[in-house]
Amino acid sequence: MFEYDVCIVGTGRVGLPLALSFIESGSKVTGVDIDENLRNAVNNGTMPFHEPGYETLIASKQLVVHESPNEVVPKSAVLVITVGTPLHNHIETDLSQIQNVLEELGPHIREGQLIILRSTVAPGTTSYVKKWLERNTSFKVGENLLLSFCPERTAEGVAHKELRSLPQICGAEDTASRDAAGELFAKLAPEIMKTNFITAELVKLFNNISRYINFAVANQFALIADNFDANIYETRRLANHNYPRCNLAMPGFTGGTCLRKDFGMLNEWSPYPDMLLSAWKMNEFTPAMLVEQLMKRTKIHDSKVAVLGFTFKQDTDDIRDSLVPKLCRYIQRQLPLELRVSDHHLPDPIPEPSAPKPLKNWEIADALDGIDCVFVATNHKGYKDALLELGQKRPEAWIADIWNVGETDQIYYQAGRMAGAKTAA
Ligand SMILES: NC(=O)c1ccc[n+]([C@@H]2O[C@H](COP(=O)([O-])OP(=O)(O)OC[C@H]3O[C@@H](n4cnc5c(N)ncnc54)[C@H](O)[C@@H]3O)[C@@H](O)[C@H]2O)c1
Repeated sequence: MFEYDVCIVGTGRVGLPLALSFIESGSKVTGVDIDENLRNAVNNGTMPFHEPGYETLIASKQLVVHESPNEVVPKSAVLVITVGTPLHNHIETDLSQIQNVLEELGPHIREGQLIILRSTVAPGTTSYVKKWLERNTSFKVGENLLLSFCPERTAEGVAHKELRSLPQICGAEDTASRDAAGELFAKLAPEIMKTNFITAELVKLFNNISRYINFAVANQFALIADNFDANIYETRRLANHNYPRCNLAMPGFTGGTCLRKDFGMLNEWSPYPDMLLSAWKMNEFTPAMLVEQLMKRTKIHDSKVAVLGFTFKQDTDDIRDSLVPKLCRYIQRQLPLELRVSDHHLPDPIPEPSAPKPLKNWEIADALDGIDCVFVATNHKGYKDALLELGQKRPEAWIADIWNVGETDQIYYQAGRMAGAKTAA
């Protein structure tokens, strides 16, 4: 009856890997996206961003992404919505991409289709979608149209593996929708867990927010340890070692579109200061903490400063909601002689919309040449070797290394410590 098994609407960082994994599982898949550059990349057989494991599949050009939903949406048995769900500048969920998609899909929805919402959404959004569909189409969910919320829980960079290894939550308000969603994802996931809309929405938010809070605690402990002149890495290692009731995370920059915004999807419904808000504050304070604590040891003003890593996490090319631009702004406020940013996962210049002008992306060796202070802002592979070399060439340079990339078990240290050389510290 339908030409395609699945149509992915929004073939970005979540939608594209999902589309390709469904193709790999034997499904006939198509896609729709409003981003012309992304469509051109995919339709020419290349990944528009870094997500390993899909090189052969994308090159096979089995997936064609269309600009308009008109052609493919009526011909698809399942429509999976994977558009962005950012926050407004206020603590308020921005529903506009979901609303736009509904407006665009509405006229092309056909009887019997299964609609799956997979973007991370604020509680109650799937019920909103249900009401929207029942008002704006002639169909009734559970009777002649199916609807389910099936959250994406993979991490960037490991989607190919995790789409096949993580349990899939399928939330629906009627058995037909729940079963249809379960049947679809059983092609990928080893385990299907069926529930209702609100539970599925909250599972996703609780998963992300609890991670966000764990990192906030780790960052708070790093600050406390430093104030007591203690070693956070040793403290953490001893606290966790063979002790089943403790699982302290590593300190680090906690950003990215998912972790940073999802707490807001719950927080918009409460007027009171709470734990989530405190976690947000702690994680947001981390760049300021690094600058302040390093300045207790050396000066940034009139110094040459390098920042290694600009993406929000290790070995990705995603800068959305990274805390590194904020770190750079705090460094700039100290009027350094020079600020050099280096990230080998990004192009030159670095496309940073909030910077006054595009940022030059330095080769790492040039960035560290004659440098006074280094902030290791992302724990990309390869940085340890660069720090080792710096230790030999410029042992007096100060390093702020929240990720413990140099494995010195210190956040703030002089580069000479890397080479085992004597330092002034
Ligand atoms: N990136 C992750 O690791 C991750 C993990 C889990 C959940 N999520 C959630 O998944 C959702 C999508 O995130 P993402 O990282 O893939 O975002 P993204 O920006 O990479 O992808 C969204 C895509 O939707 C497209 N789009 C927007 N409006 C459209 C429209 N009207 N019609 C067709 N296409 C449209 C955009 O052009 C974009 O390519 C968000 O809710 C996010 O919170 C993301």
